[in-house]
Amino acid sequence: MRHTTLLFMSLVTGGMMGCKKPRESAAPVVENSKVAEQVPEQEQVHIHGGHEHHHHGFDDPTKFENQWNAPERDRWQHPEEIIAALALSPGATVADIGAGTGYMVAHLSKAVGDRGTVIAIDAAPAMITYLTNRSADLGPAKIVPQQVSGESPELPDDRVDGAITVNTWHHINERETYAKKVYSGLKRGGKFVVVDSEVDAESGPPKAMRLEAGRVMQDLEAGGFRVVIAHESMPQHYMIVGHKD
Ligand SMILES: C[S@@+](CC[C@H](N)C(=O)[O-])C[C@H]1O[C@@H](n2cnc3c(N)ncnc32)[C@H](O)[C@@H]1O
Repeated sequence: MRHTTLLFMSLVTGGMMGCKKPRESAAPVVENSKVAEQVPEQEQVHIHGGHEHHHHGFDDPTKFENQWNAPERDRWQHPEEIIAALALSPGATVADIGAGTGYMVAHLSKAVGDRGTVIAIDAAPAMITYLTNRSADLGPAKIVPQQVSGESPELPDDRVDGAITVNTWHHINERETYAKKVYSGLKRGGKFVVVDSEVDAESGPPKAMRLEAGRVMQDLEAGGFRVVIAHESMPQHYMIVGHKD
């Protein structure tokens, strides 16, 4: 069996690109912030007989925290747009799938407030330890770090009011099946928001791993969602919203 190991250092970034994206509305576009911040993402891809298995180098959060949690990231990741797409009420329960070092967990925590809950889901044990140790710094909500296998968010049925996955959907192997599991975990009326890199972004995950927005829409549709591509002004990312009507 052919067994090739490749090591990629990849970048998830905002920048100055003028990506052409279809929009669900013609709302005014906020001017792009013209910053080229970089978020490194290290991963190893093992190729076994033509099948790729992604073994992520996410075992040391200290390698990522400074960039992933940098306050300047707000200037290109536009977390307020991601939060707005979820339309959460105070006291809501929300899941962040691939929570990493908690950048979006902190924003979600603020949105749901001290009566709310953020389930911070990650497949990497080191990220869960990091999130557990940091939970007091992640805002007013109850923070519930949850380690999962890579195949499922492991949410009980009808558990959450909303879910997000930011810069992580391209890591999921069986995405249509995974989308069904997220759908089951959402309460009716809940939304699943997927933010990931444009295929032609200046930097981001290895090009071979990037997903067209249309492909992500198909994944979510196959999972049962009504899907729209959201209006946003992130320079190098798209945002897909799946509705559980
Ligand atoms: C590029 S990082 C993004 C972290 C965070 N969402 C952010 O934007 O700052 C991807 C994260 O997803 C996690 N991850 C990768 N594959 C996963 C899977 N199948 N299920 C859950 N988490 C996963 C990794 O451990 C890592 O923490």
